[in-house]
This record gives sequence, structure tokens and C-alpha cells, in this order.
Amino acid sequence: MNCLQEHLSGTIGHSVPEGAGRLVMSALERELTAGRADGLSPRTLPVVDTWFEAALDLSAAEGFGKTATALRNVKDRLYWDSIYPIEDVGEDFDAYCAFAELVGPNAPVRAEGYSAGLTLIAPDFLYNWHTHPASEIYMILTPQSLWALNDGPFMAKSAGDVVYHASGAPHAMKTQGHVLLAPWIWTGDIATEPQMRSGSR
Ligand SMILES: [Fe+2]
Repeated sequence: MNCLQEHLSGTIGHSVPEGAGRLVMSALERELTAGRADGLSPRTLPVVDTWFEAALDLSAAEGFGKTATALRNVKDRLYWDSIYPIEDVGEDFDAYCAFAELVGPNAPVRAEGYSAGLTLIAPDFLYNWHTHPASEIYMILTPQSLWALNDGPFMAKSAGDVVYHASGAPHAMKTQGHVLLAPWIWTGDIATEPQMRSGSR
């Protein structure tokens, strides 16, 4: 068990672990800069072509220059996916949202027991209520976005904020004027895909 898993296994399920966001970042930076991502087979999407560079610039401006540089170094080798079946999310979804899993049992950078990657959401989009059995921690790199949990109200979050979604807790995100780039880490049941809540599309 590496130090990331140790830390998470001791604290996840109760609250946002102290320093969890930094752990997400350091795990990605370490894996990406160690050159272990050479096996990445690239796939891009229009939303990525349009917004990823801008998201990296914004992230650097918010103090995440090291992460932005690490991601920029591998950006042509990332595998981006929209994950959800189009009948569950509508045709707009993959024009606005993309996910790149970087670390995990089946990801280009192999790890057991957790997975980690990136979420990119173009401005002015609602990523509606969805759930998954994995526990999830997001580290937000870009300026203001709105996040909601357990049918609660949308709350404004800023670059550097950490968001924790417990296993099975419904959550939603909304972008307004800015693109959102947020690395995430999953623990627990990482094999089961997320599902949109019925009626949430
Ligand atoms: Fe999630």
C-alpha cells in the first residue's frame, strides 16, 4: 500500500481528509513526471481541443503551475472519454464534459485500490445529479464553479477547494463563466461506472 492509499484508507468515509487535495495533485504529478505514463494511448474530444489549454492556463494562474506543466507535458497522450451512454445524458453532454483516467487498475498508469484522473467541463454547463459507489475527492484547479451534494443547494467553490463525495451520495456540478478542470481520486468500488439519476439530463 502506498502512502496515498494509506492516508485515504485511514480517513475517507468520515470527512474530507486533511490535505487530500494535495495528495491527489502530488499523485498525478508524480505519476506523470516519472515517465510512467508512456503507455497512454491518446484520444481527444472537441471539448478538450477547445478548452483544455485554457484550463491549464487558468490553473497555472491560480497557483497550480507545477500541475499544469505536468499535464501539458502529457496532454497529447491523454485518453479522454465522455463515459456516459448518450441515451442517459443527451447529445450535449460530450460537447461539454470529458474525463481522462490516468491512474488505476486498468488505466495507463497502473495502480491497485484507487483510480485518479481529470474532469474537464466547458463553461455554462450543468453536469446533473449522478451517483457512483466509489468515494470521490475532487481538487479544483480553476476559478469559480458550483457544486451540490445530497439534493442540497449549489455552493460556489474556488481554485484550491477540495470536494468530497461519499459513496452513493448524489452530486451535481455547474459551470458558469469559466472552464472547470478538477483532478479526482476514487477509492472503494472503483469498478462500477457512475450513473445519471433518472430524470437528470
Ligand atoms: Fe462523482
